[in-house]
Amino acid sequence: MSQDNAQQLTEKIRNKEAKVAVIGIGYVGLPLAIEIARTGYDTIGIDVDRKKVAMANQGKSFISDVQSEEIKEVRETGKFRAITSYAFCREADIINICVPTPFTTSKDPDVSYIISSGEQIARYLHPGQLIILRSTTYPETTEKVLLPILTRTGLRVGRDFYLSFAPERIDPGNKVWTIRTTPVVIGGVTKKCTALSSLFYSQFVDRVVTVSSPRVAEMSKLLENIFRSVNIALVNELARMCDRMGGIDIWEVINAAASKPFGFMPFYPGPGIGGHCILIDPYYLAWKAREYDFHSNFIELAAETNEAMPFFVVDQLFEILGINGIPAKNANLLILGAAFKRNVNDTRHSPAIKVMELLLNRVKTLNYVDPYVPEIEVAGRKFRAKPLNRSLLRRADCVLILTDHSAFDYDLILRESKLILDTRNAINRRDVKKVYTLGYRRNSVITSTD
Ligand SMILES: NC(=O)c1ccc[n+]([C@@H]2O[C@H](COP(=O)([O-])OP(=O)(O)OC[C@H]3O[C@@H](n4cnc5c(N)ncnc54)[C@H](O)[C@@H]3O)[C@@H](O)[C@H]2O)c1
Repeated sequence: MSQDNAQQLTEKIRNKEAKVAVIGIGYVGLPLAIEIARTGYDTIGIDVDRKKVAMANQGKSFISDVQSEEIKEVRETGKFRAITSYAFCREADIINICVPTPFTTSKDPDVSYIISSGEQIARYLHPGQLIILRSTTYPETTEKVLLPILTRTGLRVGRDFYLSFAPERIDPGNKVWTIRTTPVVIGGVTKKCTALSSLFYSQFVDRVVTVSSPRVAEMSKLLENIFRSVNIALVNELARMCDRMGGIDIWEVINAAASKPFGFMPFYPGPGIGGHCILIDPYYLAWKAREYDFHSNFIELAAETNEAMPFFVVDQLFEILGINGIPAKNANLLILGAAFKRNVNDTRHSPAIKVMELLLNRVKTLNYVDPYVPEIEVAGRKFRAKPLNRSLLRRADCVLILTDHSAFDYDLILRESKLILDTRNAINRRDVKKVYTLGYRRNSVITSTD
Protein backbone atom coordinates (compact mmCIF):
# COMPACT_ATOMS: atom_id res chain seq x y z
CA MET A 1 0.00 0.00 0.00
CA SER A 2 2.73 2.51 1.05
CA GLN A 3 4.77 1.49 -1.99
CA ASP A 4 1.72 2.26 -4.16
CA ASN A 5 1.29 5.67 -2.51
CA ALA A 6 4.87 6.64 -3.16
CA GLN A 7 4.84 5.19 -6.65
CA GLN A 8 1.66 7.03 -7.59
CA LEU A 9 2.97 10.31 -6.22
CA THR A 10 6.27 9.81 -8.06
CA GLU A 11 4.39 9.38 -11.32
CA LYS A 12 2.17 12.37 -10.69
CA ILE A 13 5.23 14.52 -9.96
CA ARG A 14 7.02 13.30 -13.09
CA ASN A 15 3.97 13.77 -15.32
CA LYS A 16 3.18 17.19 -13.81
CA GLU A 17 -0.17 15.82 -12.74
CA ALA A 18 0.32 16.42 -9.04
CA LYS A 19 -1.98 19.07 -7.58
CA VAL A 20 -0.05 21.47 -5.39
CA ALA A 21 -1.16 23.72 -2.54
CA VAL A 22 0.93 26.59 -1.19
CA ILE A 23 -0.30 27.73 2.20
CA GLY A 24 0.46 31.38 2.87
CA ILE A 25 1.01 33.48 -0.26
CA GLY A 26 3.23 36.18 1.20
CA TYR A 27 6.83 37.05 0.34
CA VAL A 28 7.76 33.36 0.25
CA GLY A 29 4.57 31.60 -0.83
CA LEU A 30 3.52 33.78 -3.76
CA PRO A 31 6.79 33.53 -5.75
CA LEU A 32 6.91 29.81 -4.93
CA ALA A 33 3.35 29.21 -6.12
CA ILE A 34 4.06 31.08 -9.36
CA GLU A 35 7.21 29.06 -10.03
CA ILE A 36 5.38 25.78 -9.38
CA ALA A 37 2.50 26.85 -11.64
CA ARG A 38 4.97 27.87 -14.36
CA THR A 39 6.50 24.40 -14.14
CA GLY A 40 3.12 23.03 -15.16
CA TYR A 41 1.44 21.93 -11.93
CA ASP A 42 -2.09 22.94 -10.97
CA THR A 43 -1.30 25.21 -8.07
CA ILE A 44 -3.57 26.72 -5.45
CA GLY A 45 -2.47 29.42 -3.06
CA ILE A 46 -4.33 29.24 0.25
CA ASP A 47 -4.25 32.31 2.46
CA VAL A 48 -6.37 33.62 5.31
CA ASP A 49 -5.91 37.16 3.99
CA ARG A 50 -8.89 37.82 1.68
CA LYS A 51 -7.27 40.90 0.20
CA LYS A 52 -4.18 39.01 -0.94
CA VAL A 53 -6.31 36.21 -2.36
CA ALA A 54 -8.47 38.69 -4.31
CA MET A 55 -5.44 40.54 -5.63
CA ALA A 56 -3.67 37.33 -6.67
CA ASN A 57 -6.78 36.21 -8.57
CA GLN A 58 -6.95 39.59 -10.31
CA GLY A 59 -3.31 39.24 -11.33
CA LYS A 60 -2.24 42.14 -9.13
CA SER A 61 0.98 41.75 -7.23
CA PHE A 62 1.36 42.94 -3.64
CA ILE A 63 5.05 42.03 -3.37
CA SER A 64 7.84 44.11 -4.89
CA ASP A 65 9.66 40.99 -6.07
CA VAL A 66 6.76 39.64 -8.12
CA GLN A 67 5.52 41.45 -11.22
CA SER A 68 1.76 41.54 -11.81
CA GLU A 69 2.52 40.21 -15.31
CA GLU A 70 3.97 37.04 -13.80
CA ILE A 71 0.77 36.38 -11.86
CA LYS A 72 -1.36 37.17 -14.92
CA GLU A 73 0.63 34.68 -17.01
CA VAL A 74 -0.06 31.77 -14.66
CA ARG A 75 -3.66 32.92 -14.22
CA GLU A 76 -4.11 32.82 -18.00
CA THR A 77 -2.63 29.32 -18.36
CA GLY A 78 -5.18 28.27 -15.72
CA LYS A 79 -2.41 26.80 -13.56
CA PHE A 80 -2.78 29.15 -10.59
CA ARG A 81 -5.53 30.49 -8.42
CA ALA A 82 -5.88 31.55 -4.82
CA ILE A 83 -8.51 30.69 -2.21
CA THR A 84 -9.12 31.28 1.48
CA SER A 85 -10.44 27.81 2.25
CA TYR A 86 -8.32 24.79 3.14
CA ALA A 87 -10.83 22.49 1.44
CA PHE A 88 -8.50 22.13 -1.56
CA CYS A 89 -6.17 20.16 0.73
CA ARG A 90 -8.56 17.26 0.16
CA GLU A 91 -7.49 17.19 -3.50
CA ALA A 92 -3.89 18.33 -3.11
CA ASP A 93 -1.07 15.83 -3.57
CA ILE A 94 1.61 18.18 -2.30
CA ILE A 95 1.19 20.88 0.34
CA ASN A 96 3.86 23.52 0.97
CA ILE A 97 3.52 25.48 4.20
CA CYS A 98 4.83 29.07 3.97
CA VAL A 99 3.14 30.73 6.95
CA PRO A 100 4.77 33.34 9.21
CA THR A 101 6.99 32.41 12.16
CA PRO A 102 7.20 35.65 14.15
CA PHE A 103 8.25 36.11 17.75
CA THR A 104 6.17 37.19 20.70
CA THR A 105 6.64 40.55 22.43
CA SER A 106 9.09 38.84 24.78
CA LYS A 107 10.94 37.48 21.72
CA ASP A 108 9.98 33.84 22.14
CA PRO A 109 9.12 31.83 18.99
CA ASP A 110 5.50 31.93 17.87
CA VAL A 111 4.80 28.75 15.90
CA SER A 112 1.03 29.14 16.23
CA TYR A 113 0.67 29.70 12.45
CA ILE A 114 2.38 26.38 11.76
CA ILE A 115 0.14 24.70 14.32
CA SER A 116 -3.05 26.17 12.91
CA SER A 117 -2.20 25.30 9.32
CA GLY A 118 -1.16 21.81 10.46
CA GLU A 119 -4.54 21.38 12.17
CA GLN A 120 -6.35 22.48 9.02
CA ILE A 121 -4.30 20.12 6.82
CA ALA A 122 -4.96 17.25 9.26
CA ARG A 123 -8.70 17.62 8.61
CA TYR A 124 -8.12 16.64 4.99
CA LEU A 125 -5.02 14.45 5.31
CA HIS A 126 -5.21 11.21 3.37
CA PRO A 127 -2.78 8.55 2.11
CA GLY A 128 -0.40 9.60 -0.64
CA GLN A 129 0.04 13.25 0.38
CA LEU A 130 3.37 15.03 0.76
CA ILE A 131 3.63 17.94 3.21
CA ILE A 132 6.65 20.25 3.07
CA LEU A 133 7.25 22.87 5.73
CA ARG A 134 9.13 25.89 4.37
CA SER A 135 8.77 28.42 7.20
CA THR A 136 11.94 29.17 9.11
CA THR A 137 11.76 27.69 12.60
CA TYR A 138 13.73 26.09 15.43
CA PRO A 139 15.12 22.53 15.18
CA GLU A 140 12.56 19.82 15.97
CA THR A 141 9.51 21.85 14.89
CA THR A 142 8.78 19.51 11.97
CA GLU A 143 9.02 16.35 14.05
CA LYS A 144 7.78 17.55 17.43
CA VAL A 145 5.22 20.21 16.55
CA LEU A 146 3.85 19.47 13.08
CA LEU A 147 4.22 15.69 12.87
CA PRO A 148 2.16 14.89 16.01
CA ILE A 149 -0.72 17.01 14.64
CA LEU A 150 -0.69 14.99 11.43
CA THR A 151 -0.26 11.55 13.04
CA ARG A 152 -3.20 12.20 15.37
CA THR A 153 -5.29 11.31 12.30
CA GLY A 154 -4.07 7.74 12.62
CA LEU A 155 -2.07 8.00 9.39
CA ARG A 156 1.61 7.01 9.52
CA VAL A 157 4.44 9.13 8.24
CA GLY A 158 6.64 7.51 5.61
CA ARG A 159 3.95 4.94 4.81
CA ASP A 160 0.67 6.81 4.41
CA PHE A 161 1.82 10.39 4.07
CA TYR A 162 5.20 12.09 3.73
CA LEU A 163 6.66 15.05 5.61
CA SER A 164 9.82 17.11 5.06
CA PHE A 165 11.39 20.36 6.02
CA ALA A 166 12.82 22.45 3.16
CA PRO A 167 13.83 25.92 4.35
CA GLU A 168 13.04 28.82 2.07
CA ARG A 169 16.11 30.82 1.04
CA ILE A 170 14.52 33.51 -1.11
CA ASP A 171 16.28 36.88 -0.96
CA PRO A 172 13.66 39.46 -1.95
CA GLY A 173 15.06 41.94 -4.45
CA ASN A 174 17.82 39.56 -5.61
CA LYS A 175 17.58 39.09 -9.37
CA VAL A 176 20.47 36.62 -9.67
CA TRP A 177 19.61 34.10 -6.99
CA THR A 178 16.04 33.09 -7.65
CA ILE A 179 13.92 30.12 -6.60
CA ARG A 180 15.31 28.23 -9.60
CA THR A 181 18.99 29.08 -9.21
CA THR A 182 19.26 28.88 -5.41
CA PRO A 183 19.87 25.31 -4.20
CA VAL A 184 17.19 23.99 -1.86
CA VAL A 185 18.04 21.94 1.25
CA ILE A 186 15.62 19.12 2.08
CA GLY A 187 15.39 16.87 5.12
CA GLY A 188 12.55 14.38 5.29
CA VAL A 189 11.24 12.54 8.35
CA THR A 190 11.99 9.29 6.49
CA LYS A 191 14.12 8.50 3.45
CA LYS A 192 11.00 8.17 1.34
CA CYS A 193 9.84 11.62 2.48
CA THR A 194 13.21 13.09 1.44
CA ALA A 195 13.17 11.29 -1.90
CA LEU A 196 9.67 12.44 -2.84
CA SER A 197 10.30 16.03 -1.74
CA SER A 198 13.58 16.08 -3.71
CA LEU A 199 11.89 14.74 -6.79
CA PHE A 200 9.24 17.45 -6.59
CA TYR A 201 11.63 20.34 -5.94
CA SER A 202 14.07 19.17 -8.62
CA GLN A 203 11.32 19.89 -11.18
CA PHE A 204 11.85 23.63 -10.70
CA VAL A 205 15.05 24.12 -8.67
CA ASP A 206 18.42 23.51 -10.36
CA ARG A 207 20.05 21.84 -7.35
CA VAL A 208 18.58 19.92 -4.43
CA VAL A 209 20.75 19.21 -1.40
CA THR A 210 19.40 16.44 0.79
CA VAL A 211 20.26 16.07 4.47
CA SER A 212 19.65 13.28 6.94
CA SER A 213 16.75 14.79 8.91
CA PRO A 214 14.38 17.78 9.20
CA ARG A 215 16.40 18.87 12.26
CA VAL A 216 19.57 19.27 10.19
CA ALA A 217 17.64 21.25 7.56
CA GLU A 218 16.05 23.45 10.25
CA MET A 219 19.43 24.10 11.88
CA SER A 220 21.12 24.81 8.52
CA LYS A 221 18.64 27.61 7.80
CA LEU A 222 19.27 29.12 11.22
CA LEU A 223 23.02 28.87 10.73
CA GLU A 224 22.69 30.81 7.45
CA ASN A 225 20.74 33.63 9.06
CA ILE A 226 22.76 33.73 12.27
CA PHE A 227 25.93 33.87 10.15
CA ARG A 228 24.56 37.06 8.58
CA SER A 229 23.36 38.51 11.85
CA VAL A 230 26.73 37.92 13.58
CA ASN A 231 28.76 39.34 10.70
CA ILE A 232 26.54 42.40 10.35
CA ALA A 233 26.87 42.93 14.10
CA LEU A 234 30.64 42.73 13.78
CA VAL A 235 30.79 45.47 11.12
CA ASN A 236 28.25 47.53 13.04
CA GLU A 237 30.52 47.39 16.06
CA LEU A 238 33.54 48.29 13.93
CA ALA A 239 31.56 51.18 12.38
CA ARG A 240 30.95 52.58 15.85
CA MET A 241 34.60 52.01 16.72
CA CYS A 242 35.72 53.91 13.58
CA ASP A 243 33.31 56.70 14.48
CA ARG A 244 34.88 56.91 17.95
CA MET A 245 38.44 56.85 16.62
CA GLY A 246 37.89 59.34 13.80
CA GLY A 247 39.74 59.38 10.50
CA ILE A 248 39.16 55.70 9.71
CA ASP A 249 36.43 55.04 7.19
CA ILE A 250 34.74 51.65 7.82
CA TRP A 251 33.53 51.52 4.20
CA GLU A 252 37.06 51.96 2.88
CA VAL A 253 38.27 49.38 5.40
CA ILE A 254 35.69 46.81 4.26
CA ASN A 255 36.45 47.39 0.58
CA ALA A 256 40.16 46.98 1.25
CA ALA A 257 39.59 43.77 3.21
CA ALA A 258 37.26 42.47 0.48
CA SER A 259 40.13 42.55 -2.00
CA LYS A 260 41.38 39.39 -0.31
CA PRO A 261 40.24 36.67 -2.69
CA PHE A 262 39.82 34.02 0.00
CA GLY A 263 38.75 33.79 3.63
CA PHE A 264 36.84 37.09 3.70
CA MET A 265 33.30 38.04 2.77
CA PRO A 266 32.17 41.66 3.01
CA PHE A 267 29.26 42.70 5.22
CA TYR A 268 28.22 46.31 5.61
CA PRO A 269 27.05 48.40 8.55
CA GLY A 270 23.70 50.17 8.65
CA PRO A 271 20.98 51.53 10.89
CA GLY A 272 20.08 48.03 12.14
CA ILE A 273 18.57 44.86 10.75
CA GLY A 274 14.94 44.10 9.99
CA GLY A 275 12.63 41.93 7.95
CA HIS A 276 11.12 38.62 8.90
CA CYS A 277 14.35 36.60 8.98
CA ILE A 278 17.68 37.86 10.23
CA LEU A 279 16.24 39.74 13.15
CA ILE A 280 13.87 37.00 14.31
CA ASP A 281 15.48 33.67 13.47
CA PRO A 282 18.46 33.88 15.86
CA TYR A 283 15.98 34.21 18.73
CA TYR A 284 14.33 30.97 17.64
CA LEU A 285 17.56 29.08 18.12
CA ALA A 286 18.56 30.88 21.32
CA TRP A 287 15.16 29.97 22.79
CA LYS A 288 15.45 26.31 21.74
CA ALA A 289 19.03 26.06 23.01
CA ARG A 290 17.92 27.19 26.48
CA GLU A 291 15.75 24.08 26.65
CA TYR A 292 19.08 22.19 26.62
CA ASP A 293 20.70 24.53 29.21
CA PHE A 294 22.77 26.02 26.43
CA HIS A 295 23.23 29.80 26.21
CA SER A 296 24.33 31.07 22.84
CA ASN A 297 26.53 34.10 23.49
CA PHE A 298 27.10 34.85 19.82
CA ILE A 299 23.40 35.06 19.02
CA GLU A 300 22.55 37.30 21.96
CA LEU A 301 25.55 39.56 21.43
CA ALA A 302 24.80 40.00 17.72
CA ALA A 303 21.16 40.80 18.45
CA GLU A 304 22.13 43.31 21.12
CA THR A 305 24.67 45.01 18.84
CA ASN A 306 22.34 45.21 15.84
CA GLU A 307 19.38 46.38 17.89
CA ALA A 308 21.48 49.20 19.36
CA MET A 309 22.10 50.70 15.89
CA PRO A 310 18.90 52.77 15.56
CA PHE A 311 19.74 54.38 18.92
CA PHE A 312 23.28 55.07 17.74
CA VAL A 313 21.97 56.67 14.51
CA VAL A 314 19.62 58.95 16.47
CA ASP A 315 22.44 59.99 18.82
CA GLN A 316 24.64 60.74 15.84
CA LEU A 317 21.85 62.72 14.19
CA PHE A 318 21.31 64.85 17.30
CA GLU A 319 25.04 65.47 17.55
CA ILE A 320 25.18 66.61 13.93
CA LEU A 321 22.16 68.89 14.40
CA GLY A 322 23.79 70.38 17.51
CA ILE A 323 27.10 71.00 15.77
CA ASN A 324 25.27 72.73 12.95
CA GLY A 325 23.33 74.95 15.33
CA ILE A 326 19.95 73.36 14.80
CA PRO A 327 17.97 72.71 18.00
CA ALA A 328 16.48 69.21 17.62
CA LYS A 329 13.04 70.38 18.76
CA ASN A 330 12.92 72.85 15.84
CA ALA A 331 14.32 70.44 13.27
CA ASN A 332 12.57 69.48 10.06
CA LEU A 333 13.81 65.98 9.24
CA LEU A 334 13.41 63.97 6.08
CA ILE A 335 13.83 60.20 6.20
CA LEU A 336 14.80 58.43 2.98
CA GLY A 337 13.67 54.80 2.96
CA ALA A 338 11.22 53.02 5.24
CA ALA A 339 11.65 49.44 3.96
CA PHE A 340 14.06 47.27 5.92
CA LYS A 341 16.38 46.92 2.93
CA ARG A 342 16.90 48.31 -0.56
CA ASN A 343 14.45 47.82 -3.39
CA VAL A 344 11.76 45.96 -1.42
CA ASN A 345 8.44 47.07 0.10
CA ASP A 346 8.83 45.01 3.29
CA THR A 347 8.73 47.18 6.42
CA ARG A 348 8.51 44.39 9.00
CA HIS A 349 10.82 45.28 11.92
CA SER A 350 12.42 47.92 9.71
CA PRO A 351 15.16 49.86 11.51
CA ALA A 352 13.87 52.95 9.67
CA ILE A 353 10.61 52.67 11.55
CA LYS A 354 12.47 52.23 14.82
CA VAL A 355 14.51 55.36 14.08
CA MET A 356 11.32 57.31 13.28
CA GLU A 357 9.78 56.06 16.51
CA LEU A 358 12.79 57.36 18.44
CA LEU A 359 12.46 60.73 16.69
CA LEU A 360 8.72 61.15 17.17
CA ASN A 361 7.89 64.05 19.52
CA ARG A 362 11.56 65.01 19.69
CA VAL A 363 11.79 66.94 16.44
CA LYS A 364 9.45 69.50 14.88
CA THR A 365 8.69 67.83 11.56
CA LEU A 366 9.23 64.28 10.40
CA ASN A 367 8.56 63.20 6.82
CA TYR A 368 9.59 60.18 4.83
CA VAL A 369 10.08 59.18 1.23
CA ASP A 370 9.91 55.61 -0.04
CA PRO A 371 8.76 54.73 -3.56
CA TYR A 372 7.92 51.21 -2.37
CA VAL A 373 6.06 52.08 0.81
CA PRO A 374 3.12 54.48 0.38
CA GLU A 375 2.27 54.60 4.07
CA ILE A 376 3.52 53.39 7.42
CA GLU A 377 2.49 53.41 11.02
CA VAL A 378 4.99 54.57 13.61
CA ALA A 379 3.97 54.08 17.25
CA GLY A 380 0.30 54.35 16.30
CA ARG A 381 0.76 57.39 14.04
CA LYS A 382 0.13 57.12 10.32
CA PHE A 383 2.61 58.62 7.87
CA ARG A 384 2.15 58.95 4.12
CA ALA A 385 5.19 58.91 1.85
CA LYS A 386 6.10 62.23 0.21
CA PRO A 387 7.36 62.41 -3.34
CA LEU A 388 11.08 63.12 -3.50
CA ASN A 389 11.65 66.56 -5.00
CA ARG A 390 13.76 69.66 -4.73
CA SER A 391 11.50 71.65 -2.43
CA LEU A 392 11.06 68.76 0.03
CA LEU A 393 14.83 68.36 0.24
CA ARG A 394 15.39 72.09 0.59
CA ARG A 395 12.86 72.40 3.39
CA ALA A 396 14.58 69.71 5.47
CA ASP A 397 17.23 70.72 7.99
CA CYS A 398 18.70 67.24 7.67
CA VAL A 399 18.13 64.28 5.36
CA LEU A 400 18.61 60.88 6.94
CA ILE A 401 19.27 58.04 4.49
CA LEU A 402 18.13 54.79 6.10
CA THR A 403 17.40 52.60 3.07
CA ASP A 404 19.46 52.93 -0.10
CA HIS A 405 16.81 52.23 -2.75
CA SER A 406 18.33 52.41 -6.21
CA ALA A 407 15.32 54.47 -7.37
CA PHE A 408 16.47 57.46 -5.31
CA ASP A 409 18.09 60.29 -7.26
CA TYR A 410 21.27 60.65 -5.20
CA ASP A 411 22.60 63.55 -7.30
CA LEU A 412 19.45 65.51 -6.52
CA ILE A 413 19.67 64.54 -2.84
CA LEU A 414 23.30 65.62 -2.65
CA ARG A 415 22.69 68.88 -4.51
CA GLU A 416 19.57 70.07 -2.71
CA SER A 417 20.00 68.90 0.89
CA LYS A 418 21.44 71.16 3.56
CA LEU A 419 22.76 68.32 5.69
CA ILE A 420 22.84 64.56 5.13
CA LEU A 421 23.39 61.67 7.50
CA ASP A 422 23.96 58.66 5.28
CA THR A 423 23.74 55.34 7.14
CA ARG A 424 24.20 53.23 3.97
CA ASN A 425 27.05 55.01 2.23
CA ALA A 426 24.68 55.61 -0.67
CA ILE A 427 26.12 59.07 -1.40
CA ASN A 428 29.71 57.91 -0.93
CA ARG A 429 31.30 61.35 -0.89
CA ARG A 430 33.93 62.16 1.71
CA ASP A 431 34.91 65.47 0.10
CA VAL A 432 31.54 67.14 0.80
CA LYS A 433 31.37 68.31 4.38
CA LYS A 434 27.60 68.42 4.62
CA VAL A 435 27.53 64.62 4.14
CA TYR A 436 28.05 62.60 7.31
CA THR A 437 28.45 58.86 6.87
CA LEU A 438 27.81 56.17 9.45
CA GLY A 439 31.15 54.63 10.37
CA TYR A 440 33.26 57.57 9.27
CA ARG A 441 34.13 60.66 11.24
CA ARG A 442 36.49 63.01 9.43
CA ASN A 443 38.54 63.58 12.57
CA SER A 444 38.07 63.12 16.24
CA VAL A 445 35.58 66.00 16.48
CA ILE A 446 32.76 66.42 13.97
CA THR A 447 33.37 69.70 12.11
CA SER A 448 30.67 72.09 10.97
CA THR A 449 29.32 72.21 7.41
CA ASP A 450 30.73 74.17 4.47
N1 LIG B 1 10.46 37.07 3.59
C1 LIG B 1 11.60 36.46 3.38
O1 LIG B 1 12.50 37.01 2.75
C2 LIG B 1 11.84 35.04 3.86
C3 LIG B 1 12.94 34.35 3.36
C4 LIG B 1 13.16 33.05 3.78
C5 LIG B 1 12.29 32.47 4.70
N2 LIG B 1 11.22 33.17 5.17
C6 LIG B 1 10.32 32.49 6.10
O2 LIG B 1 9.15 32.13 5.39
C7 LIG B 1 8.00 32.19 6.24
C8 LIG B 1 6.97 33.10 5.65
O3 LIG B 1 7.49 34.40 5.55
P1 LIG B 1 6.88 35.50 4.61
O4 LIG B 1 7.89 36.59 4.57
O5 LIG B 1 6.41 34.92 3.34
O6 LIG B 1 5.63 35.95 5.49
P2 LIG B 1 4.33 36.74 4.96
O7 LIG B 1 3.70 37.33 6.15
O8 LIG B 1 4.72 37.64 3.83
O9 LIG B 1 3.41 35.60 4.36
C9 LIG B 1 2.77 34.66 5.13
C10 LIG B 1 1.34 34.53 4.64
O10 LIG B 1 0.71 33.49 5.39
C11 LIG B 1 -0.64 33.87 5.61
N3 LIG B 1 -1.17 33.10 6.72
C12 LIG B 1 -0.99 33.31 8.04
N4 LIG B 1 -1.59 32.35 8.75
C13 LIG B 1 -2.15 31.50 7.85
C14 LIG B 1 -2.89 30.31 7.96
N5 LIG B 1 -3.16 29.77 9.15
N6 LIG B 1 -3.31 29.72 6.83
C15 LIG B 1 -3.05 30.26 5.62
N7 LIG B 1 -2.34 31.38 5.45
C16 LIG B 1 -1.89 31.98 6.56
C17 LIG B 1 -0.57 35.36 5.83
O11 LIG B 1 -1.81 35.99 5.58
C18 LIG B 1 0.51 35.78 4.82
O12 LIG B 1 -0.04 36.16 3.59
C19 LIG B 1 8.53 32.65 7.59
O13 LIG B 1 8.81 31.53 8.38
C20 LIG B 1 9.83 33.35 7.25
O14 LIG B 1 10.75 33.34 8.32
C21 LIG B 1 10.96 34.44 4.75
